Amino acid sequence: MKIFDFNPDEYVPAFAQRGYVHIEKGLSEDFFALLSAHVVQTLEAGVMKDFALGDKQQALYRMPEERIFCTELKRTVGAICRINPERLLISERHVKSYNEDANPSPPPHKDRFASELAVGFPVHVPRDSALVLYPETDVVVNPFNSWAELREGIHPKHHPEKILKAAKPVEIRDSPGDVIVFRGSAIWHLRSNPAGTIILYLKLNSFNCDTLGEDPFTSDYLKVARTPQSLSDAELRVSIPLISRRVDSVQKRYNRDWRETLVVSIRGSATLSIDEMEFKALKLMDGIRSVGSVLDQACLGSGPESGLAMIQSLAQRGIIDLLQHESERSLQTDERP
Ligand SMILES: [Fe+2]
Repeated sequence: MKIFDFNPDEYVPAFAQRGYVHIEKGLSEDFFALLSAHVVQTLEAGVMKDFALGDKQQALYRMPEERIFCTELKRTVGAICRINPERLLISERHVKSYNEDANPSPPPHKDRFASELAVGFPVHVPRDSALVLYPETDVVVNPFNSWAELREGIHPKHHPEKILKAAKPVEIRDSPGDVIVFRGSAIWHLRSNPAGTIILYLKLNSFNCDTLGEDPFTSDYLKVARTPQSLSDAELRVSIPLISRRVDSVQKRYNRDWRETLVVSIRGSATLSIDEMEFKALKLMDGIRSVGSVLDQACLGSGPESGLAMIQSLAQRGIIDLLQHESERSLQTDERP
């Protein structure tokens, strides 16, 4: 079954220029019928306690035919946004259901860092409800992996109510069956008159960040990721290192004596200390450079007691993932059923 019923190429210029697109009746009729039934089942199956904040409930969406669904989603969104679909992962997949007493004029917010792209499939939208975007003002990406962190730490003079006072909003009057794609972590947005709205939001990013562990193919990915103990030095050098999907942030911190520490935060896990050399290497990991290239550029030796040992340690501590060399990875993908 097709999910979408439009040509993504037609929306490339609009997305590039404005950072959002609204595709009326962009879902195929068959898929929308299936989605409507699924969201009801999803909400009945139970809401997510960690996300029962504010005036809406959220439930994890379980996709039908995950492989086909994810492939078409990534291919279509990647085509609209001009991003290689192989670099995209799904960092969130929540059905959102607004309470009947939801605030009709909520303040604007930005999605968390991992929500580079927010893809909305409205299922039920009351007549006077709309998605309101501010695509022309302060489109700096939220650096935190939650809206709350941005909101709490924000300087009073940068509060959205102030900086958006004179901004021009764009009101998207969406309907069931439509598709909306926008830069969720960068564009201030809100849902006006949300009471009773039900919408599936899929969030994607192109930088391997899945701190919630909601991409259904993370387990496949981890099978491809290599355990450093199983690799010879030569194999390790050609592996591709990536900051682990679960890493939330890397921080340079100072205590009150101005002592500097470097720490890596992994969601649901301990905060881990790293040293300057590890920090330097992490900054060079872009998903393209091999371990050997990272070590060469960081001017680190590759002997067992120097660079390679450091890479092994980072992988064993869950700070980085080691992928196979690109050519080996494509071979393995091709062989999968
Ligand atoms: Fe949002």
